[in-house]
Amino acid sequence: SKKPVRVAVTGAAGQIGYALLFRIASGEMLGKDQPVILQLLEIPDEKAQKALKGVMMELEDCAFPLLAGMEAHSDPMTAFKDTDYALLVGSRPRGPGMERAELLSINGAIFTAQGKALDKVASRNVKVLVVGNPANTNAYIAMKSAPGLPRENFTAMLRLDHNRALSQVAAKTGVKVGDIEKLTVWGNHSPTMYADYRFATANGKAIKDMINDQEWNANVFLPTVGKRGAAIIEARGLSSAASAANAAIDHMRDWALGSSGKWVTMGVPSNGEYGIPKDTMFGFPVTTENGKYTIVKDLPIDAFSQERINKTLQELKDEQAGVAHLV
Ligand code: NAI
Repeated sequence: SKKPVRVAVTGAAGQIGYALLFRIASGEMLGKDQPVILQLLEIPDEKAQKALKGVMMELEDCAFPLLAGMEAHSDPMTAFKDTDYALLVGSRPRGPGMERAELLSINGAIFTAQGKALDKVASRNVKVLVVGNPANTNAYIAMKSAPGLPRENFTAMLRLDHNRALSQVAAKTGVKVGDIEKLTVWGNHSPTMYADYRFATANGKAIKDMINDQEWNANVFLPTVGKRGAAIIEARGLSSAASAANAAIDHMRDWALGSSGKWVTMGVPSNGEYGIPKDTMFGFPVTTENGKYTIVKDLPIDAFSQERINKTLQELKDEQAGVAHLV
């Protein structure tokens, strides 16, 4: 049987952690033949550590055959030791009345420390997914804080936006979600993201032609996908957790095991594709194979799309400028 791999998860006692860990341990992320060791990080706070112990008791009570070990940590330097996969979920969400600068500086400190720890102690092939918001900029800070690791090992989660867009398109057209290919989401994980179905097909037919309604695209679809996070908070009283965990599983599974030629969306450091400045952590269409992702290149960008891409890029540039002193 396969040698266990090490999977670090931060914010492990939080809501997304609770929806995520059991699925990783059951083999849904890395395959039903891949044993895992969970290296769980929470803040040193006594309540958080106690809650983490409770989650670990429940993991134990599942008796997952693939769970080859688990550890509780309060320091990234031990939590990330030799880790092959790191899901950085814990962050400080924006509190009431919190200024953007304050949010960026608190998270700047977290992701600088975690990037440095990954640089020092993680596997040289570690695959890093940042979920904690602001996800793209946190991933950018972690990448910049880890000069000893390949920059392409750092990614941000746009997959929830991608999945939200898939479901909206399926509902509009009546085609099955699983039949839709070549949809993508460009840019920042924020309401400025640009969900793009111009290239999408279902069973060989163009989704754009099936919908044929630019008014719906601009005034219904894009605002619905962009504001979905806020709509969930409004309805549930809590932010998306199970769907976020599901997207994290999808992202890591496809990166590790391949997407079989299908497009998926990942936030990855630009190499200059589509005029996005190098290193900007940007949502792109990618295909994945043998543990590597490749950005889909040379897609035509029309005026409407360019305007949307410029807007989400500008937001990312502003966020990056806010953390420039850290990187
Ligand atoms: P939560 O507040 O329930 O849990 C976060 C956990 O992280 C807490 O237990 C906290 O103690 C821990 N934590 C905070 N700082 C930490 C640090 N430096 N090291 C280790 N652990 C730390 O939050 P929830 O609902 O689990 O969400 C987590 C993050 O994911 C939030 O920032 C949220 O905005 C973001 N998110 C991102 C999405 C995306 O699509 N990229 C979608 C949904 C949520």
